[in-house]
Amino acid sequence: MDLTDAQKAELSSAKARRESLAADPQRPTYHFAAPTGWLNDPNGLIQWDGQYHLFYQHNPHAAKWGPPYWGHAVSDDLVHWKDLPIALTPDMSPEDAGGCWSGCAVNDNGVPTFVYTGVETDRTGKQTTCLAFGDGELLNWQKYEQNPVARWPKDLNVIRNAYRDPYVWREDDTWYQVVVTAFDDRGQALLYRSQDLKTWDYLHPLIPQELRDALSDEGSIWECPNFFALGDKHVLIVSLAGECLQYPVAFIGEYRDYQFYPESMGRVDHGYHCFYAPLTMRDDQGRMLMWGWLQEQRSGEAQLSASWSGMISPPRVLSLENNTLKSEPIEELKSLRQEHFQVEKLEFGKGLKKLDLKGRALELTLSLNFKEANEAGIVLALAEDESEGLYILYNREQGSLSAEPRSPNREEGIWSSRPYTCPLELESNTLNLRIFLDGSVAEIYAQGQCLTCRLYPDKSSQRVALISDGTTYLEKLEAWTMKNIWSNSERL
Ligand code: FRU
Repeated sequence: MDLTDAQKAELSSAKARRESLAADPQRPTYHFAAPTGWLNDPNGLIQWDGQYHLFYQHNPHAAKWGPPYWGHAVSDDLVHWKDLPIALTPDMSPEDAGGCWSGCAVNDNGVPTFVYTGVETDRTGKQTTCLAFGDGELLNWQKYEQNPVARWPKDLNVIRNAYRDPYVWREDDTWYQVVVTAFDDRGQALLYRSQDLKTWDYLHPLIPQELRDALSDEGSIWECPNFFALGDKHVLIVSLAGECLQYPVAFIGEYRDYQFYPESMGRVDHGYHCFYAPLTMRDDQGRMLMWGWLQEQRSGEAQLSASWSGMISPPRVLSLENNTLKSEPIEELKSLRQEHFQVEKLEFGKGLKKLDLKGRALELTLSLNFKEANEAGIVLALAEDESEGLYILYNREQGSLSAEPRSPNREEGIWSSRPYTCPLELESNTLNLRIFLDGSVAEIYAQGQCLTCRLYPDKSSQRVALISDGTTYLEKLEAWTMKNIWSNSERL
């Protein structure tokens, strides 16, 4: 790898900064977080020379949002990551002095190209589509001197400067771009066309406006669109931003004559404010992979004093079933499994049943048969005195799975104030869960749905327990401690 001295110094500083945070119990050990500082959306996902490149919205100066840089990491296996030098820096050029906001990466005939959002001045500045070109190693990036390459159409009444997060694909030798915006106080996606990525023609709203008007009014602003074919349908994922909304949804429907006709809409993840701004990429195995930003649920001061904020989920594999988007963890995560723990064929009654299992970096699978219980599940990160823990419960009467971090500290504005729920119909009265716990995040998979939540228990809260309100039968529980992806990560 051809690194300049300045880049080598940047990487050894990143390594030292990572190590300085390694003892923080809230810090993930197998989810990606920035070395230090702030991280939000995944950006520019691309496979290049067989490696996966992840770029991300990043403020390297403090653990709070600031004019975004594009951080960069690379992986051979989607599991172990290696930091690379920052790829984009907001600079004094008028197009992105307010930051290099989200966007994507494409391979333009051998030239790695970012299509990103330039923001002029600050958060309120004008937003446009800009380009940057990379070298063969994706290490050095040059902004296009004729930026910006696309702006909002003048005749649309776009509000709050919302025009951002370009998502680009190639169709019949032509480039297409959707950017999200808001006009008439509703989120919408606009479609553009180009032959060379440098000159774009605005076509029309991706969803015919009369159809958009008829859809629910969710999302006064849309962010971070993804538009792709899946099975015999098309999927549009957008993140809904607004007064109190902050979650992504997937519309599934038909794409014809360059317009999209949604037939159904559903949540991409059932966590609340915990999984946002996902970005997708089709890899060379044909999998449609989705990464998301795992937002913090603790106060701004707590984030600043921790010196880091935000994680990226390991990619999830997307599929469609009956017009519903399903996501599953990637197979590669199994390579992190270490010590194995197993219990099976265990009947237990009302209350907590502590297991001989502890950890804050675990993968668990379990299969519970409800017998007489109405509500049963598992508790993670449980304190020995039971004063706090993450309660993952299925309630048969309500037909929903919930995850609730319970802690005395919650009132201090550190934890989310809502339990997270996901409607779920059990097959043969049996709940099957697959859970990834890592420091302060839990991703809970059930029947192709995922519920992500953040929790910030004390370092010593490590116990795993079963819980129920009546007789329940544990068919099987397996658990593995998970390897730390950062030990031995210095492979430059
Ligand atoms: C989503 C988002 C994007 C924007 C970026 C700025 O989290 O608001 O719309 O490009 O973050 O950091």
